Amino acid sequence: MNFSSSRLNRVKPAASVMVSQLARDLKSQGKDIIDLGLGQPDFDTPAHIVEAAHQAALAGKTRYTPMRGAADLCDAVCDKFKRENGLDYAHNEMIISNGAKQIIFNAMLATLESDDEVIMCAPFFGSYRDIVLAVGGTPKTITCKPEDEFRLTPESLQAAITEKTRWVMLNLPSNPAGAIYSEAQLQALGEVLEQHPRIILLSDEIYEHIIFDGRTFISSAKALPQLKDRILTVNGVSKAYAMTGWRIGYGAGPKTLIDVMIKVQSQVSSAPCSVAQAAAVAALNGPQESVGQFRKAFERRRDLVVKHANNIPGFQLRSPGGAFYAYIGCEALLGCKTPNGELIDSDTNLAGYLIHEASVASVPGSAYELSPYIRLSTANSDENLDNAMQRIAAAISRLTPK
Ligand SMILES: Cc1ncc(COP(=O)(O)O)c(C=O)c1O
Repeated sequence: MNFSSSRLNRVKPAASVMVSQLARDLKSQGKDIIDLGLGQPDFDTPAHIVEAAHQAALAGKTRYTPMRGAADLCDAVCDKFKRENGLDYAHNEMIISNGAKQIIFNAMLATLESDDEVIMCAPFFGSYRDIVLAVGGTPKTITCKPEDEFRLTPESLQAAITEKTRWVMLNLPSNPAGAIYSEAQLQALGEVLEQHPRIILLSDEIYEHIIFDGRTFISSAKALPQLKDRILTVNGVSKAYAMTGWRIGYGAGPKTLIDVMIKVQSQVSSAPCSVAQAAAVAALNGPQESVGQFRKAFERRRDLVVKHANNIPGFQLRSPGGAFYAYIGCEALLGCKTPNGELIDSDTNLAGYLIHEASVASVPGSAYELSPYIRLSTANSDENLDNAMQRIAAAISRLTPK
């Protein structure tokens, strides 16, 4: 029997999760796979954060917290926004959820009428599309070009807006392309949005701290104070503090928007795990050295992968400005044949070839709505990355040119 609703039929499972599952399956069959599929820091959660969770559990912080999230975590998030982003948010402008992903889900379910359009900038985090589809909205993709460093331009934003546009999603720095926006570039987008009062801006800043080459990060709500009452700032502890498994994300925005998001949360999950919330308090209020150490490591690994990729014939990669991915153009490899005589005619084929022939898991660009590319996560040890890039180079060299 088919249990899937027609609405759910439009939704794809997360590609990076499926690739990682395949990598795990192959590993369990004894294959030496290097998994550059899933995007999560390979570091352990810093010890003081784990200890805070332990103490919270021992102290009896084991019950439901308020639906919005625990008061001490809301305080910590308010302080974080003030300290790091120069933004003032009150408790009633805040929600804590099971990861940034649920913040986005809550926002979409709470606000979208069927047929409302959500603008997203390809290549984008695939869940944007699938969450919008799951709640009955319509994703509207704008393709961002490598020559614009994969940034959304004001002209293409203006051209994509219709009377049905409800949200524009920005991701700074972006997964998978590492696109970064300066204050002036955000303001140019803001000028377009000012003319369209129905549109809400979702600014996903989950990779805020993973930004390279000495750049400084500016939050959309800081760059666009005139739009702050229709910006939802999305963030969380997953990437900055190596806490992907703890599932704590947060959102801040106008009270009336947050209220309807809490209404969704109250029926989907209630507030997230009390002990994980205590860990997030320790992450945000505690020592921040590890954040800088992680950033440094990610920058070094980015350099390592860029250096290797630029020596692989058929690969094209500009140095990403942030996040921990290499989004590698592979158009020149389409039309090549594998040693078995199979044609590589898509990035999906290439990713399949690489997992079987190089034992390296990658995600095809089709998952991010911009092909032909493959995404490699650089959140892995230097040794594994070096090894993976050598294996990829060797596998590519075995292809017969078109
Ligand atoms: C752009 C982007 N936003 C949100 C998320 C989800 O983060 P969380 O673990 O907080 O749900 C991810 C995770 O990969 C991401 O890449």
